[in-house]
Amino acid sequence: MQTNIAVLGAQWGDEGKGKIVDMLTPHFSTVARYQGGHNAGHTVYVDGKKFVLHLIPSGILHPGVTCIIGNGVVVDPEALFKEVDELGRLGVTVDGRLLVSEKAHVILPYHRELDVLSEARRGERKIGTTSRGIGPAYEDKIGRRGIRVCDLLGDREALATEVRENVSARNRMIKDSTLDWQPVFQQLLAHGERMKPWVADVSLVLHQTMSAGKSVMFEGAQATLLDIDHGTYPFVTSSNASVGGICTGLGVPPKAIGGVLGVAKAYTTRVGEGPLPTELSGELAERLRETGQEYGASTGRPRRCGWYDAVVVRYSARINGMDAIALTKLDVLDGLPEVRLCVGYKTSAGVVTEFPADLRLLVDAEPVYETMPGWSTPTKGATRIEELPAQARRYITRLEEVSGVSCGVISTGSDRNETIVAPESPVARWTASPVR
Ligand code: GDP
Ligand code: IMO
Ligand code: MG
Repeated sequence: MQTNIAVLGAQWGDEGKGKIVDMLTPHFSTVARYQGGHNAGHTVYVDGKKFVLHLIPSGILHPGVTCIIGNGVVVDPEALFKEVDELGRLGVTVDGRLLVSEKAHVILPYHRELDVLSEARRGERKIGTTSRGIGPAYEDKIGRRGIRVCDLLGDREALATEVRENVSARNRMIKDSTLDWQPVFQQLLAHGERMKPWVADVSLVLHQTMSAGKSVMFEGAQATLLDIDHGTYPFVTSSNASVGGICTGLGVPPKAIGGVLGVAKAYTTRVGEGPLPTELSGELAERLRETGQEYGASTGRPRRCGWYDAVVVRYSARINGMDAIALTKLDVLDGLPEVRLCVGYKTSAGVVTEFPADLRLLVDAEPVYETMPGWSTPTKGATRIEELPAQARRYITRLEEVSGVSCGVISTGSDRNETIVAPESPVARWTASPVR
C-alpha cells in the first residue's frame, strides 16, 4: 500500500517545492494542488530546460501522471490557458490528465484591478501582493458571491444574474467606474467552454484513486508563514497553505494524508512585505541572492534573504506535523566562511523561542544565532550524504536538532538528479517503489 504525502512550504515560499514535487512524482499516480492560485511560481529544471508552473501541479512533466487543481484553488482561466499553451509549446500535453475541480472559484478580470487598488489604499502598509487578484477572489468566495467553475457550465440566466450583481458591486467600490457586465459574462462562457474537458468532481476522483491503492501527492503553494491563519498576518496570502488546506481544498479526509514533507531552504527568503527576523543586508544578502538566484518566479522581484530560522521551521513542523524536512539549496552556502542558525529572538519581552502572533514583537527583534564553520568543498550536485564535507554534515545535524525534525531530502542543485534522499528516512520509505 502506497502512502499519500503532502509536500508544502515550511518558510515564506519559494523553498523549492516544485523541484521536490517533480523529483518525487515517479512514485505517485496523481499530484494535486489544494490552494492558492497563479501567485505561485514553481520552477522545475529537466535536463537544463526550465519550466515554471503556476497553477498546474509540478508533476505534469512526468507523462502519465494525473494532475489535479482542487476546489481550494482560485483559478484565473486566462492564466490557466496560457500555462497549458506554454507547456504545449515545450512538448508537454495535459489532455486527459489535467482535472480542474468544478467547485474551484474563478478569478475574474477585475479581481486583479481590486488587488492593485487595495494595495494602493494601504500605502505604506501594503502587503506586497503578486497583483494576481488572489485576495479579492477569496474575499468573494468567503463573502458567498463567488463564481465557481461549474457555474460557467450551468444555468446561463443564473450566471448572468451573478455577474451583473458582482460587476455592479464592483462599480460601487471603484469611484467613477462603469464596467459593463455583459462582456465579462460572454468571456466567462467562452472560458467555460474551453475548460469543459478538464472539469471534474476531484474529490470523487481522488477517492477512487486512493481506493484503487494508488498514491497521491498533495502539492502546497506559498507556505506556512504565508498561511492566512498561521502566517505573519496580515502579511500573508489569502488561503490555508499549511496542511489543513488539503482536506478542505480537495475534499479528502485527514486520514488520507499519510506523511508530510516540509520544504525549507538552508537559509531563508521572503518576497513582499512583512517580518523576516533573520533578514540580512549588504554584501552577504547580495551573495545569497546572486548565488541562489533569488528573484521571484512569478513577478521577478528580488527576494529578501537571511539565515536559516529554526524558530520558523520548528513552528511549521508543529502546525503541519512534518515527518521530514526537504532541505534545499544547501549548495548556495558553499564557500561561506561561516554559517548561522537562528534559535530565538531577543525582543522587548525577553528571548522568544516560539513564533509569536503579535508582529510588533518582531519589529526590533534581534535573532539569537548559533554560528558554525562553513565549508569550502562544494556540495553542489552531491547525491549521497557521504559526499558532503564534514562541516556541511555538522551544519545539517545541528539544523535538524534545533528544528526538531530530520532531513529526509537534501537538495544540492536545481536539477532533479542533484538530490540526496536520506537512507532510512520516511522519504526513503515513501519512495521505495516506483509507480511507473
Ligand atoms: P517553489 O515556489 O517553492 O517551487 O520555489 P521556486 O521555484 O519559486 O524557487 C526555488 C528556486 O530554487 C528555483 O529556481 C529552483 O530551480 C531552485 N532550486 C531548487 N532547489 C535547489 C537547490 O538545491 N539548489 C539550487 N542552487 N537551486 C535550487
Ligand atoms: P510559491 O508557491 C513566495 C506572497 C506575496 C505577498 C503575499 C500575498 O511560489 O512559493 P498574494 O498575491 O498571494 O495575495 O500575495 O504572499 N506570495 C508568495 N511569496 N512564494 C509564493 O508562492 C507566493 N505567493 C504569494 O509576495 O507577500
Ligand atoms: Mg515560487
